[in-house]
Amino acid sequence: MSTSIQAILLAAGKSSRFKTNNTKLGYTLCGQELILYPVKLLNNLAIPTTVVVGHQKEKIKQAILQAQIAIGFVEQNEQKGTAHAVACTQKTWTSENILIMSGDTPLIKQETIDQLITKHSDSQADITFATAHNTDPSLITYDRIVKKNGTISAIVDGKSYEGDTNVDCCLNTGIYLIKKTFLEEALPLLKPHDNGELYLTDLILYAIEKNKKYASISASFDTIRGVNTLKELWAAEHIKRSELIEYWMERGVYFSAAQNVYLDINITIGAGTFIGAGVLLLNGTKIGENCMIDAFSVLTNSIIHDNVTLAPHSVVTNSEIYDHAHVGPFAHVRNSSIIKEHASIGNFVEVTKTTVGSHTKAKHLSYLGNGIIGSHVNIGAGTIFCNYNGFTKETTTVQDHAYIGSNNALVAPVTIGAQAITGAGSVITRDVPDNALALGRATQINKDGYAPVLRDRLQKKNVSRNAEHDALGSFLGAIKAPTIPEDQR
Ligand code: UD1
Ligand code: CA
Repeated sequence: MSTSIQAILLAAGKSSRFKTNNTKLGYTLCGQELILYPVKLLNNLAIPTTVVVGHQKEKIKQAILQAQIAIGFVEQNEQKGTAHAVACTQKTWTSENILIMSGDTPLIKQETIDQLITKHSDSQADITFATAHNTDPSLITYDRIVKKNGTISAIVDGKSYEGDTNVDCCLNTGIYLIKKTFLEEALPLLKPHDNGELYLTDLILYAIEKNKKYASISASFDTIRGVNTLKELWAAEHIKRSELIEYWMERGVYFSAAQNVYLDINITIGAGTFIGAGVLLLNGTKIGENCMIDAFSVLTNSIIHDNVTLAPHSVVTNSEIYDHAHVGPFAHVRNSSIIKEHASIGNFVEVTKTTVGSHTKAKHLSYLGNGIIGSHVNIGAGTIFCNYNGFTKETTTVQDHAYIGSNNALVAPVTIGAQAITGAGSVITRDVPDNALALGRATQINKDGYAPVLRDRLQKKNVSRNAEHDALGSFLGAIKAPTIPEDQR
């Protein structure tokens, strides 16, 4: 049957209940724009789809085009209601059945669509729609389908529904599968409501009035939640995030505090990996097996291979970290950096646009920018790659087995040769050959026995300065606090 189905996805609305002036369909839920949830589902089901756009249409088109999904667009220039939006697409109707969905229903599942298709086919109904049970009267954005003796007696506006559990009533989900012939007949006959809008819900009433065949299925409420307000976006995101966490738990990922971990939809995590409290895994990040991603680490668009440790508060952006490397705590790796196998990046180390070779260590308080660092290199505490001259960024190269002493400033462009050593506190401005020792600092002088002489001189100077100060104080008439005798203290 799927060959005779096409879908219309409604996405032209003003999103006024969001109160942000922006279309809600461009907001993200677990890192993916709302509109892409139904778009991807329909694409996976190979159902040809037309999206009705209007308010901020470019934003919506852009999100879909970026996801590289081929889809048709129709414009609804004035937002005159859900049924008017569908009417705008009439020229595109070529299939026997039209599936209508809202763009603001991101938790929708394939099984609901499958069920709808089966029901529509088995019942031969003109219109088949999905409903959900929830008697909470605070859910005012959903219209209620009220039944008496098993048949629909009314469709009640969500605001008027009082939550009477004695009434046989369920929510309208806004998901319909309709015979094209029925739609062609009924749509032109719908009457606008007081606000001038045409409502899709009136198609159900039309079917009843004209004795057409209708059928319905029941879906779980959480899967059909609409997102009309920022609060509903927040609620839907909680649900999606829980689904993602459950998914990874089932695949052997251990979360120490799953309730406060934030996962985007497009990340992956290998089995045996530990995810600590407050971790954010964002924007396509891929984590291998048996890694330790400790508390409050934030990973964006990065690849972490197997057996990697990220100690707490590590921030990794657009970078790649290879097997058995150790990063953090409080480390920042960004801007296409690569940390090779068994390398160690310690606390308060920033690595940007730099490759760090295998077994290399930079364990404390360093800035490594625009660097090419070989393997088995030691970068001493407090080392800075001076990569920016105010105009251009220059490269620092440190070759295999080199040893950079503490508190070095390596002024790029500069190369430190293999096995070379630089002394602590050096400012290195020229290339250092392989195996050389480079000392770029003032030479130390020791004056034997001079310490007591200096101490004596300083003490005398201090005494005379205090006397000067006292004299000045009495001259200015400064009032001194009375001295309290010892026995009265
Ligand atoms: C709609 C249904 C309601 C149902 C609820 C389920 C109608 C009149 N109401 O209400 O019965 O219980 O969904 O979530 O059908 N849109 C357009 N053009 C327009 C108006 C809306 O394209 O002129 C689009 C919106 O962008 C949105 C979708 O249609 O994606 C639904 O509109 P929305 O305003 O969210 O309808 P609800 O009030 O939620
Ligand atoms: Ca809605």
